[in-house]
Amino acid sequence: MTPLIRRQGDANMSVDYSMRISRLTVDKLGVKLYDKVSAVIAELIANAYDADATEVIVRAPMGQFLATRAGGTVADKGFDIQVIDDGIGMTPQQVQDFFLVVGAERRNDPKRGSRSLGLKRKVMGRKGVGKLAPFGICKTIEVISAGGELQYGDSENPSDSGYLTSHIVLDYGGIVALGDEPDERYKPTVGDRDESLSETSGTHIILRDFNYRKVPEIAVLGRQLAQRFGIQSQDWKVQLTDNTTSDSSPETVRTFHIDTMPNTRITFCRDGSVLGPDGTVQDELSAGFDHDGTSYPLLGWMAYSKAPYSDELMAGVRIYCRGKIAAQTSIFNQRAGFTGEHNIRSYLVGELHADWLDEDEDLIQTDRRDILWSDERAAAFQAWGQTIVKRIGTLSRDPLRKATLEVFLDTGNVEARILDTYPAGNQQDIRDKALEVARSFGRTISRSEAEDADVVNELVDLSITLAPHITLDSMMKEAVAHADKPLSVLASFLRTARLAELSSFGRIAEDRLKVVKRLEILKDAGDTDEDDLQQLIADAPWLVNPEWAPVTENRTFSSLRREFEKYYEDRTGSPISLSDFKKTGKRPDFVLSSQEGTVQIIEIKKPHHKLTNAEMDRIVTYYQNMETFLNDPAHFEFRKHFADFHVTIVCDQLALTGTQRAAFEGYRDKKKLTHLDWAAFLLKTEHVHQDFLREAQRQRTANPAAPADD
Ligand SMILES: Nc1ncnc2c1ncn2[C@@H]1O[C@H](COP(=O)(O)OP(=O)(O)O)[C@@H](O)[C@H]1O
Ligand SMILES: [Mg+2]
Repeated sequence: MTPLIRRQGDANMSVDYSMRISRLTVDKLGVKLYDKVSAVIAELIANAYDADATEVIVRAPMGQFLATRAGGTVADKGFDIQVIDDGIGMTPQQVQDFFLVVGAERRNDPKRGSRSLGLKRKVMGRKGVGKLAPFGICKTIEVISAGGELQYGDSENPSDSGYLTSHIVLDYGGIVALGDEPDERYKPTVGDRDESLSETSGTHIILRDFNYRKVPEIAVLGRQLAQRFGIQSQDWKVQLTDNTTSDSSPETVRTFHIDTMPNTRITFCRDGSVLGPDGTVQDELSAGFDHDGTSYPLLGWMAYSKAPYSDELMAGVRIYCRGKIAAQTSIFNQRAGFTGEHNIRSYLVGELHADWLDEDEDLIQTDRRDILWSDERAAAFQAWGQTIVKRIGTLSRDPLRKATLEVFLDTGNVEARILDTYPAGNQQDIRDKALEVARSFGRTISRSEAEDADVVNELVDLSITLAPHITLDSMMKEAVAHADKPLSVLASFLRTARLAELSSFGRIAEDRLKVVKRLEILKDAGDTDEDDLQQLIADAPWLVNPEWAPVTENRTFSSLRREFEKYYEDRTGSPISLSDFKKTGKRPDFVLSSQEGTVQIIEIKKPHHKLTNAEMDRIVTYYQNMETFLNDPAHFEFRKHFADFHVTIVCDQLALTGTQRAAFEGYRDKKKLTHLDWAAFLLKTEHVHQDFLREAQRQRTANPAAPADD
């Protein structure tokens, strides 16, 4: 609606605006039912639709609170919300006759009717209360509307023509001051554009003086409004703009969109037929129901959403009446315990059009949240819905499970990873097995797990590790069954056995790499405790040397340990603890380990530590005693099992001088001592494991020794 051309000026023609209303009415109709900004705006948009508007512009402070609330006092922030349409508008007389009348049913009014005047839209308005909805969120409603026939001013000049304009301001305070009598008359304030001419017709509503409410972010509001309307029409457009900034780009309200799962859609057609997910007619179902000799059609669709509900707007089947939301239901009040119930409750979405819902009798609750199901006709509708829901529960079971598996295969990039690990031509059996194992994992997990890359990758790793073992097992059975051609079976058997071995060790190597990475972080943590480090090495000697396995101690080594403790205390006068940490709860002075027939003495210091002379002295004492211990003829038995000993020190720096330094260098030159700093220590471990993984991968890929399949 464009600016006024000029004042009409004829005071005799002006309308004496008044509205018959009581305070009880406005409280009941306005304040209670419409407390959400989007619901209020939706009512005004519905009125614009009924007035044949083709474009509605909503200007609001997007994402903002409309008022502050401190210490129980609400203070308006000075914002406004405007809804501007280019519909047929209203003349001052029409404002008085249509707008300022509460509770008049427009569809029974011959001047308005149940179809719109120009575009013959099925009008949404019914009860004559929508205009009061803004009082649910604000105290002032300003209305500027221009309508009726095109009027001419002083001259017959077409440029002097326009639509007669009404301009009023409704004030909530003035209405509640009326008192409780049913026949009170409220007189709105008349605005300065009243009785002027506007170039175009249309209605402009401005809301001010807000309660404590928030306008959603523009995208959210767009989605909420999209959900409230199920209008599909070329000549209908709703635009949103933020009126708090000048650089806001308008957002068009689109049709409400939900991604649905493939092969789950059921369509309710205009001819009464129902199409299944594969497009075939479902003979036992129909798109509507009969009640008392009348048919009530239902158009639209139901399906499973691609992902479980992400907000309540999409949850369940949206039921529209004449393009406006009437209710939303997920299961049509079906009692619990039917097939596929869980999925229905988290995936079922749909859009149904039931234009008869408010004809004759109105079956929609005034707040448009649900249908009055107790009504007989509504009960018939409910029974129809339950039949459909039950049918969907069985129809869509497989697609859902299949879809989760697809997600799993997708997230884990499963086929590519299997092919990557076992690429050789003669590894088809193993690939098949790996995929089979992976698929069986994928079938058992939940949807959200299937989307979680960590969970999925762990399962894929496991499938890849297990595949050669399972193949090996079935080959073994085959080898027994085909005893007549043992050699050929044996050849591929050994090949698979080698792969199984590689895949198991590969998995160990991968896990170890994770431990190394973790240690890398821990070592820099600052509060790392030396005891913990010692213990870590005792449990995982492969950290010091990847070839050292955490083998359980044999009896000879345990007794060597015990004997040496005694021997050490006898000779030096001070006790030493070398026993297993877990058994004694006491920290070992050194980690003593036996690897490859050698006694390994490991000393590990905190990162950044400088090895002191005193610490070196301790190592020397230990060293010398170990040497004499092993050389003692009484310990000949030990000597047979442990030919030598070796010291490893993990320590970042040395602060050694004089004799201690000489001792250190002497041991090192004799190759009796290895010194590693933390960086080298971690790097070495990491490299060896990575080398192993690379080699394992190479062997699997190249499979050089493998003869061609026979
Ligand atoms: N934007 C508008 N453009 C033209 N007429 C309007 C507009 N808004 C309201 N009206 C008139 O005011 C009447 C009352 O509106 P409302 O209280 O929402 O009741 P209902 O829509 O149920 O008729 C409408 O029927 C219509 O005649
Ligand atoms: Mg209305």
